[in-house]
Amino acid sequence: MSIPVLTIDGPSGAGKGTVSRLLAKKLGWHYLDSGSIYRSLAIALLKQAVDLDNVTEIVNVAQAMVLEFECGDDFIVKLNGEDITAQLGLENIGSTASIIAALPEVRRVLLKKQQDFRQAPGLVADGRDMGTVVFPDAEYKVFLTASSSKRAGRRYKQLKEKGIDANLSGLTKEIEERDRRDSERTTAPLSMASSALFIDSSDMTIDTVIDEVLNKFLMDFISMQH
Ligand code: DC
Repeated sequence: MSIPVLTIDGPSGAGKGTVSRLLAKKLGWHYLDSGSIYRSLAIALLKQAVDLDNVTEIVNVAQAMVLEFECGDDFIVKLNGEDITAQLGLENIGSTASIIAALPEVRRVLLKKQQDFRQAPGLVADGRDMGTVVFPDAEYKVFLTASSSKRAGRRYKQLKEKGIDANLSGLTKEIEERDRRDSERTTAPLSMASSALFIDSSDMTIDTVIDEVLNKFLMDFISMQH
């Protein structure tokens, strides 16, 4: 039997990260934050001052980067041995990641790195194309979204809590721009897999989203563990 995968795709700020991490913990499964792979590449490129029009050089950096993920109580990412966790969430890293993620050559190089996360007993994979391209045979697929104003509002709150200055209308614009780029690109655009469970989390709590996914798909796995 193949290793089970639960894919959670959707636009930025829909709550995929929190929901995926909690579900992985509940199920005792591994967790893939595919966005952090694109974000790590963005950090590597900015560090090495690579010209973002130079596709050959971008692909070389993508092939050479060594990533380590630690998913204990804290989620830690190391790029070539250096802890880059604190930089991952920066807005310019997210938008650079979205720009380079539109390159088919980059997606090709990063495909296997993502598929290698499929390890027993199971995987929760969070991203834009998890259910459509990276794990098309996944048994459980979710498309999680929310209105752009709610997503911007959540991001605003997160940044404020971290003491980072933010501007709500600027964040809304950035989110809409990123949605457009991630949905309109030709290779592996953000789109809902045909068999996915659609959840609009605009007026839902994280716990309600989690309950909906578990009730639909995964009660058997939870009861097997008890
Ligand atoms: O999920 P995130 O915000 O960390 O992702 C950052 C960017 O990376 C996102 O705007 C588009 C890109 N990305 C992608 O193209 N495919 C994925 N599976 C995950 C992220």
